[in-house]
Amino acid sequence: MDRKLGIAILGTGDVSSGHIAAYRRNPHAEIRAILSRDAAKATAKARQFGLENCQPFTSLDALLQADGIDAVSICTPHHLHVEQGVACAQAGKHMIVEKPVALDLAGLRKLDAAVREHGVRSVVGFVLRWNPLFEMIRSMLAERLIGDLFHAEVDYLHGITKDFGLYPWVSTRAYGGTALLTGGCHAVDALRWFVGKEAVEVFGLGNFSKGNPLDYEYEPNSVTLVTFEDGTTGKVATSLECVGPYTFPIVLMGNGGTIRDNRLFTNRWPGQTGWASIPTILPDSGAVTHHPFDAQINHFVDCILTGRESHCNVADTVKTHEICIASEQSRLTKRPVRLPLE
Ligand SMILES: NC(=O)c1ccc[n+]([C@@H]2O[C@H](COP(=O)([O-])OP(=O)(O)OC[C@H]3O[C@@H](n4cnc5c(N)ncnc54)[C@H](OP(=O)(O)O)[C@@H]3O)[C@@H](O)[C@H]2O)c1
Repeated sequence: MDRKLGIAILGTGDVSSGHIAAYRRNPHAEIRAILSRDAAKATAKARQFGLENCQPFTSLDALLQADGIDAVSICTPHHLHVEQGVACAQAGKHMIVEKPVALDLAGLRKLDAAVREHGVRSVVGFVLRWNPLFEMIRSMLAERLIGDLFHAEVDYLHGITKDFGLYPWVSTRAYGGTALLTGGCHAVDALRWFVGKEAVEVFGLGNFSKGNPLDYEYEPNSVTLVTFEDGTTGKVATSLECVGPYTFPIVLMGNGGTIRDNRLFTNRWPGQTGWASIPTILPDSGAVTHHPFDAQINHFVDCILTGRESHCNVADTVKTHEICIASEQSRLTKRPVRLPLE
């Protein structure tokens, strides 16, 4: 294909900047539309990034009817992702949908069905799948450096305080959902990505820190326990209230070794007496500017141009979202929940 893909960005907030900057660096894509509730904000965003051929829109319908739009990046608050994603699929647009793609099971099923029915390519915003440490860990697992996994832990420990731009909406139950849907889903997705098996059962706990100092409408801290089909156990701790710098700790235990973040101990290397540390880029910042959007967006563009499905499409990441939803169901009923959800 010699013409460039026309891209539309929905939303003008923090994460949209990461998407726009990455499309700008892709030679096969051109941003031609930005949707905002305020046309002046869309125009200002286009100017900020030097987008020369980009129109502002305040109506998604009008944007979807405009000429030259092949794909969209949905960078709006969580509660709009299903409605906007379904409209984009019906209009035949490929899409990146930011996480979480839905706040409940009905929405998840609706978006999944629309993407399948209209045959569009999709990539979900689990951008850490392109983090260099993630790629290194997947390579170590493939080389069986720690043998067969029997336990995995990934945590999302990110104090989202009142000075964050998204705090006013993300702290509400209607817009933010749960701590897992808002942020912990990155860790759930990482757990699935590393374990590589189907999850069959989930147990969830949650709480507020003493006095709920941040005024979250839902429990901003949770623990999710996952059992996989082969008996591997998993744990995800999520905290939006934790005090301290952002961390995303990873522990993977196998019958032949252990991985802790970028450190490895393996019985494949006789004589190893301590952790081997491998220099790389860790997922140790919640800042959007730190996320590997270039790699994710290059992958999305490549999926469209070659017609192949992404490993991180809506159909795959339905399973990540089901774990998050099941964890909340379990917390409320105080019972384990079987997967897949009915
Ligand atoms: N993958 C990642 O690592 C990552 C990182 C950050 C965020 N995210 C996800 O990206 C999405 C957006 O997050 P963000 O940090 O960019 O949020 P944000 O800074 O608050 O931006 C959201 C944008 O959505 C638009 N919007 C439309 N309806 C809105 C409403 N009712 N309330 C508030 N904004 C509304 C706004 O643009 P207009 O005012 O121009 O309409 C706003 O700028 C979230 O789902 C979040 O989970 C993902």
